[in-house]
Amino acid sequence: MSDQQQYLLSEATAARFAREVAKYPAEQKQSAVMACLSIVQQEQGYVSRAAEDVIAAYLGMPAIAVYEVTTFYNMYNQRQLGRFKLNVCTNLPCQLRGGQQALEHLCGKLGVDEGGTTADGLITVQKSECQGACADAPVLLVNDRQMCSFMSNERLDELVATLQAHAQSSAKN
Ligand code: FES
Repeated sequence: MSDQQQYLLSEATAARFAREVAKYPAEQKQSAVMACLSIVQQEQGYVSRAAEDVIAAYLGMPAIAVYEVTTFYNMYNQRQLGRFKLNVCTNLPCQLRGGQQALEHLCGKLGVDEGGTTADGLITVQKSECQGACADAPVLLVNDRQMCSFMSNERLDELVATLQAHAQSSAKN
């Protein structure tokens, strides 16, 4: 996605921002930055640079401070991703127990490079930092919400089949 595109703050979104800002003292409204970023991501699927600039202006903070948040936390998507985002942990403890192999298996199975999205727009595969579940390695996180543990090749194949079946059944309904 181009960073050149505009982001127009709708009244509805501004109202959601205002509800978050109201949770903090007026002089600390920047504390709502993560919530505002999450709102934009819920609505758009990702947070564009243009949206970050709008949030910075809304909260009265430097744009660079907003970029620092979105680039630090990989739950924020900085581009449009697939319907299912699979974040495979490749930090050292997971590396020692198959994290890299899990990533490579998924990429090979889906025919994408790391960070890539399948041609049907269904699945994006990314590596990620520690997810706090090192004892369950290899692990991955689906759409920043659902943790999957002990992801052997067989379990990875099952997960992909489940996601594909889910997409097919929801397309019929
Ligand atoms: S290193 Fe993978 S969850 Fe901690």
